[in-house]
Amino acid sequence: MGRQLTISCFRYNPNIPGDKPRMQDYKLEEHEGMTLFVALNEIREKQDPTLMFDFVCRAAICGSCAMLINGRPRLACKTMTSILPSRFTVMPLPVFKLIGDLAVDTGTWFRDLQVRAEAWIHTNKKFDFNALEVRMENKTCEEIYDPEQCIECGCCVAACITANIRPDFIGATGINRVYRFLIDPRDERSNAEYYDVIGNEDGTFGCVGLMACDDLCPKDIPLQQNLAYVRRKMAAAGLKLDFKGVKTS
Ligand code: SF4
Ligand code: FES
Repeated sequence: MGRQLTISCFRYNPNIPGDKPRMQDYKLEEHEGMTLFVALNEIREKQDPTLMFDFVCRAAICGSCAMLINGRPRLACKTMTSILPSRFTVMPLPVFKLIGDLAVDTGTWFRDLQVRAEAWIHTNKKFDFNALEVRMENKTCEEIYDPEQCIECGCCVAACITANIRPDFIGATGINRVYRFLIDPRDERSNAEYYDVIGNEDGTFGCVGLMACDDLCPKDIPLQQNLAYVRRKMAAAGLKLDFKGVKTS
């Protein structure tokens, strides 16, 4: 017989007039190999069909099941209940808009981020439908593959003190996004053009270096290393501005 778990869940549905935020305890028996996602699903199926939380893949791929588990942002589908005490709390990620209970709207936040970071290849080359694909060096592919692992779960954003107090901060995931294009040889933007996008306090200079993003990314992306790379490039680009803020090159 497994442990008796008590999961203290945040409950609040902003769409129900008069509903108040509160914690609600659910008890269930732990079984071998149980993830928090399985436990929450069991609660929803057997005890309380009104409990709201998100999931799609159940395999740490879609990023939709991130929540605060005993205060730490984690993926519910990747978190074994065996690593948790028999009583623990689950709460929605901060920073993102609450949909209800444990479900938040990361989609709108990440959509805005892609637009702000101009997260697409910028090139003046004319697209030729008949051209053969240009082969990329394996080493370059591998370097780009690393930041591309981001599943947009929001754990790094929720864990970030700057993102929690400054709603316009682009976050480690945003800087990682810019890094991905900076190292892509197909992107023809100059460092000065990137500087226009993130060379400010809401971008690469807003990070205060507490490194929670790096500790909590479920895909182990080296976020601080990528931030350091972008920051060096942006500092160099910033030094090329004259005192009137006009680009000198
Ligand atoms: Fe999640 Fe890591 Fe992407 Fe942040 S960088 S959104 S923690 S996968
Ligand atoms: Fe997709 Fe957890 S359900 S990451």
